[in-house]
Amino acid sequence: MRYRDLAGLKPTPSQLVLGTGVFGSQLPEPEAFALLDAFAAGGGNFLDTAHVYAAWLPNGAGASERTIGKWLKRTGARERIVVGTKGAHIDMKSGASRMRADCLAKDLEESLDRLQSPYIDLYWLHRDDPAVPVGEILGWLNEHLRAGKLRALGCSNWAPARIEEANRYAASNGLTGFCASQIGWALAWPQPAFDPKSLTRYVDAETEAFHRRTGFTQVAYSSQANGFFSGRYGPGLPPEAQKPGVLRKYGSPRNYKRLAAATELAVRRGVSANQVALASLLEQPFPFFAIVGPKNIEQLRDSLAAADLRLSADELAGLECNG
Ligand SMILES: NC(=O)c1ccc[n+]([C@@H]2O[C@H](COP(=O)([O-])OP(=O)(O)OC[C@H]3O[C@@H](n4cnc5c(N)ncnc54)[C@H](OP(=O)(O)O)[C@@H]3O)[C@@H](O)[C@H]2O)c1
Repeated sequence: MRYRDLAGLKPTPSQLVLGTGVFGSQLPEPEAFALLDAFAAGGGNFLDTAHVYAAWLPNGAGASERTIGKWLKRTGARERIVVGTKGAHIDMKSGASRMRADCLAKDLEESLDRLQSPYIDLYWLHRDDPAVPVGEILGWLNEHLRAGKLRALGCSNWAPARIEEANRYAASNGLTGFCASQIGWALAWPQPAFDPKSLTRYVDAETEAFHRRTGFTQVAYSSQANGFFSGRYGPGLPPEAQKPGVLRKYGSPRNYKRLAAATELAVRRGVSANQVALASLLEQPFPFFAIVGPKNIEQLRDSLAAADLRLSADELAGLECNG
């Protein structure tokens, strides 16, 4: 496993982060516990969840945080684990913004309760609402920091310009700003407007340039491009094994070239293409943490091994396929 400093959090978090969006809902509790145990046994200590997970599934609301809370209690591992959770998601029914002090406070209290913890290591705003001034938002978050309920702040699905605005405001007003961004980022980049209604953000040239220029930390979701590098996707492979949503999102000519390059390199290095794709992210010139979403132990083991795979500059250049 590889570890990297993130806002001085203790313990130093692992660069592979376990995504738990479906834990306790789509993935029953015993299987979720087995994944958490195996992740910790493999050196992982950084978990990603959210207040809203998985409110869109029957009996899903709060299930992810509750499952983590039970596992932390059962194992006594709270001090050894870095927990990231998110709040202030838009209203799931109406789509209305919930970027308000009262919504944030309510989400936070419920998250603490479900996680059975007096604090959250890294608290993310799940979405942005550019109509709300950054100073107001940071004011609310800093109150919770001062109360000892939060240890570090992050923003998920925020535009680079808003992140810079917020961190400039924090620096000139004696407040704590954001230590990391969380967007979708894999070796395969999503096709533009694959989901025009979504308020999520994915890597693009502007965002990549922002991180390279500033050295700002990225803690990326969908870092395995939802299984695009699993060996099931690509021309000539059985269409029934290829999920239409993944094809819509990642099925571009450039991504197929990157898939072919990752597959070829994987054969040369004796690893899986998914490991090559994941390892390439960890070699970014700025701090990069990759959230993985395994559905079973085999997938988790495959992803964990990526943390030990180092790629040379030549190998990384060979994966670019920008031409
Ligand atoms: N901040 C946000 O807005 C946001 C948004 C989305 C997700 N997230 C976070 O990120 C986490 C992970 O997101 P994600 O599920 O999109 O990530 P992902 O790891 O890119 O995709 C997960 C899918 O990839 C496949 N897979 C997983 N491990 C694999 C492996 N080792 N080899 C081959 N295929 C593999 C599986 O597909 P099959 O099931 O087809 O096998 C799995 O369902 C979530 O649980 C959540 O914590 C955050």
